[in-house]
Amino acid sequence: MPPSHAATIAPARRLRGRLRVPGDKSISHRYAILAALADGPSRLTNYAPGADCRSTLACLGRLGVDIKEGPDGALTVLGRGSSGLRSPDQPLDAGNSGTTMRLLAGVLAGQPFSTTLVGDASLSRRPMRRVIEPLERMGASISSTDGRPPLTVRGGRLHGISHSPEVPSAQVKSAVLLAGLAAEGETTVVEPAATRDHTERALRAFGVAVGVNGRVISLRGGQRLTPQSATIPGDISSAAFWLVGAAALPGSRVEIDEVGLNPTRTHLLEVLRRFGASVTVFETASSAGEPRGTIVVEGDRTGTLEITPEEVPALIDELPAIAALAAHGGDVVVRGAGELRVKESDRIAALVAGFRALGIDAEEHPDGFAVHGPRTASARPRVSGGVADARGDHRMAMAFAIAALAGEGASTIEGADAVAISYPEFFDTLDRLVR
Ligand code: S3P
Repeated sequence: MPPSHAATIAPARRLRGRLRVPGDKSISHRYAILAALADGPSRLTNYAPGADCRSTLACLGRLGVDIKEGPDGALTVLGRGSSGLRSPDQPLDAGNSGTTMRLLAGVLAGQPFSTTLVGDASLSRRPMRRVIEPLERMGASISSTDGRPPLTVRGGRLHGISHSPEVPSAQVKSAVLLAGLAAEGETTVVEPAATRDHTERALRAFGVAVGVNGRVISLRGGQRLTPQSATIPGDISSAAFWLVGAAALPGSRVEIDEVGLNPTRTHLLEVLRRFGASVTVFETASSAGEPRGTIVVEGDRTGTLEITPEEVPALIDELPAIAALAAHGGDVVVRGAGELRVKESDRIAALVAGFRALGIDAEEHPDGFAVHGPRTASARPRVSGGVADARGDHRMAMAFAIAALAGEGASTIEGADAVAISYPEFFDTLDRLVR
């Protein structure tokens, strides 16, 4: 990456290649946290290299957890048991990572000390009442700035609750279940719609009995965690940018190995099939309850997509990538996705502004957006290209890069260094796939 923090994206005709993507961000956070609470050392292979998952490790380090990286990149996390965390001498910095802050709030709610959790400017604007309210009902006391970070969590003796979150959120579900581990009695989360189930799978892998009955998830407090040796699959939300690029550009073929195939994360593959792409999946392995394998996408673009509100929870991190499909022709309309406004940026506003700056017709709606691709008779519709601002948001930077491949000339992505949050190698990989 040049030091200007801008990336230049040249037009491309197709994406071709075979690759792996970085370890899954959601799974990495969870394994690091559960390993820290386990009774002894766990070994985590293919831990996500991005800044978000490093933030989780740094916070756990401040809580007294010893973490070592081996020459092969695998982490050894020396678990301190459910009551072994140490009161940190400074605030814990979650950086840009909502998952770090919300999941750790759940863990800290049950610790016999006070901890302050801080974040960067983006995280400091994000809503935290969704975790504060249930954790306080369980017995913690949490102060915030009008429901936003910093959070000071005064932990204590917790009791189980039944919680029905207002919005579908795997982070909220996970925070409550993690607090439930330290609570007396049973803790239940009743989800309004299914969300990614990595916490449930990870808890079971670490030896915790978890009841799952549809959207009702429960566990009993006081269970101990057994250390694990686990391999983290590639992140399908990072793979999404290549899968979408391949679907959008006829003549493309992208093959991604060792990528996570958890069914709560693969809805994008159905969407790409609906769009007209050829999608082939082979499951090759599984570790700690998380399947992984190879996905092959070949582009044969047909054109339009409507994403319904019911589909949104299963696609929440892939919607920026999906929007980029229409930059290459056709239409993408998304409704019921108001949650995008409280991600690392206001993703509805940022997407529409960035796409327009690239010469793509895009409309903003309160709970979604519509992107209308170029309508030329040519088999290779083109947009003008331009300068798009990622607004510090990794998924915006990657979505604009895939959209900019449709430009007549080169485009610039400002703030492209945000990819370091989840996919530090993104632009190097792009260079390889367009060649
Ligand atoms: C995540 C859950 C989702 C997702 C985020 C990661 C997780 O957030 O957008 O990138 O790891 O649990 P919400 O729980 O806020 O929907």
